[in-house]
Amino acid sequence: MIRIVVTLALLIGTALGTYLHFAGRTVAVQSGYRGTGSVQMYKSATLRAGEESNAIPEADPIDDPDPSLPPVSKKFKNVQVLNDLTVLEFSRLMGAFATWVAPEDGCDYCHNPDNLASDEKYTKRVARRMIQMVRHINNDWKAHVADTGVTCWTCHRGRAVPTGDWYSRIDEQEDARILGNKHHAYTPGMTVNGNSALPYDPLSSYLVNDVDIRVQGTQALAEQFPNPNSIAKTKTTYSLMIYMAKSLGVNCNYCHSTRTFANWTQSTPQRVTAWHGIRMVRELNTDFLIPVAEQLPAYRMGPLGDGPKLACASCHKGSFKPLAGVSMKKDYEELWRPGEPKRDTGYVSPPNVEVHNAVVPAETLMKQTF
Ligand code: HEC
Ligand code: HEC
Ligand code: HEC
Ligand code: HEC
Repeated sequence: MIRIVVTLALLIGTALGTYLHFAGRTVAVQSGYRGTGSVQMYKSATLRAGEESNAIPEADPIDDPDPSLPPVSKKFKNVQVLNDLTVLEFSRLMGAFATWVAPEDGCDYCHNPDNLASDEKYTKRVARRMIQMVRHINNDWKAHVADTGVTCWTCHRGRAVPTGDWYSRIDEQEDARILGNKHHAYTPGMTVNGNSALPYDPLSSYLVNDVDIRVQGTQALAEQFPNPNSIAKTKTTYSLMIYMAKSLGVNCNYCHSTRTFANWTQSTPQRVTAWHGIRMVRELNTDFLIPVAEQLPAYRMGPLGDGPKLACASCHKGSFKPLAGVSMKKDYEELWRPGEPKRDTGYVSPPNVEVHNAVVPAETLMKQTF
């Protein structure tokens, strides 16, 4: 009897120990100077899940050039964007699209198999715009994506509808119910704002519209009345910040010194990257996702009738850099070739970050650590 009890206790103890060691252990990674409390905490189980979700499918070998083949424009009938590719590059990339976006249906997800030139499927028309978007990100948003860049895999990861897409949730009617006006807050079960009691759609204001993300006072006593930084605006700002931190799997202090959130000179270089990221997402939603929604069927629309949009989590998916910073450029350089000319949004050229009244060049901020 005693032997059985002791054996059982040892077995359970070992199992529990192993579980705690591998699943429950928290890893602390220092992300700033010692003594500044800049530490990111990771559960090893989360790290392992991240390794899995950041895996990249193996690329087909690149074919040797074959000058005997005709150019894409001669070989195919209806190529409007990828006409700077060779026929071999074109076919290889089509194979990759199937793996990245529609591994189950393959080519047929976008094509009528009897007529590959036809644009009858909406998915093909959307995919064409997505190719232009990817080239635009890789060429014109280096301030955010550096040379690492993105491919369709960065967002889609083998699904036609990538995770992390979102719809507007700002429904004025919703507030007029018996509970009174709750200003889109105090709603349980909202993942965007980390299940907090904060407003649950910070994304419409800040990642489509260009609402200023400034809430901290710059004077001891506000002389301006009414104070433009209302409590309502502060709440949506914090809701956005929780969304951003969650999308990257980091804490607030990955970007901020938490004793002074607004101060750029005490922020990390990552905050500057994030600043550009916010402008990039606004532009991608305005120029690509919102117009392309006209092509999408009604069942892809959100509860308020707007189309799907993207945000930080579309690419990052819980990782400080998408795909943990691994670039797919060496295998798919075609997606880094220049696309259509950049629209001047006035945001990033020259790349200055406005800090309250002062203008600090981003280069200066980049060089600064804590
Ligand atoms: C995610 C959508 C998508 C998938 C999956 C896809 N394609 Fe395409 N395909 C496109 C788009 C978009 C174009 C047009 C590109 C352009 O206009 O530059 C195209 C064009 C083509 C063309 C040129 C047809 C012509 O005459 O104009 C061929 C051939 C082709 N695809 C073959 C394939 C094959 C084979 C597969 C499967 C291995 C495949 N595609 C998978 C989106 C896709
Ligand atoms: C920055 C993220 C991002 C990248 C990169 C990206 N997509 Fe998309 N894609 C989206 C989002 C968001 C949607 C809308 C999904 C929805 O319907 O909710 C979408 C939709 C699509 C659809 C329509 C799917 C459907 O069933 O309705 C196709 C096809 C597609 N993308 C192809 C591509 C191809 C091909 C590439 C690479 C050239 C690409 N995408 C790159 C974010 C991205
Ligand atoms: C990935 C980087 C990043 C993370 C993580 C992050 N922030 Fe921010 N935060 C920014 C950027 C960038 C701005 C300025 C945005 C702009 O000007 O467009 C900002 C602005 C702010 C502001 C407004 C400052 C002002 O000027 O009034 C506050 C407050 C703030 N963040 C709090 C937080 C809190 C709280 C968290 C954690 C829940 C957090 N942030 C996480 C990047 C980040
Ligand atoms: C189109 C895909 C895409 C979207 C959308 C996106 N990012 Fe990124 N982000 C990247 C890539 C790629 C990198 C890696 C760049 C590099 O290698 O330096 C990156 C890097 C970063 C970094 C630097 C991390 C570090 O440790 O140096 C921060 C911070 C960041 N992103 C924040 C954001 C925030 C906040 C948003 C949403 C407002 C966002 N990103 C949206 C693709 C994206």
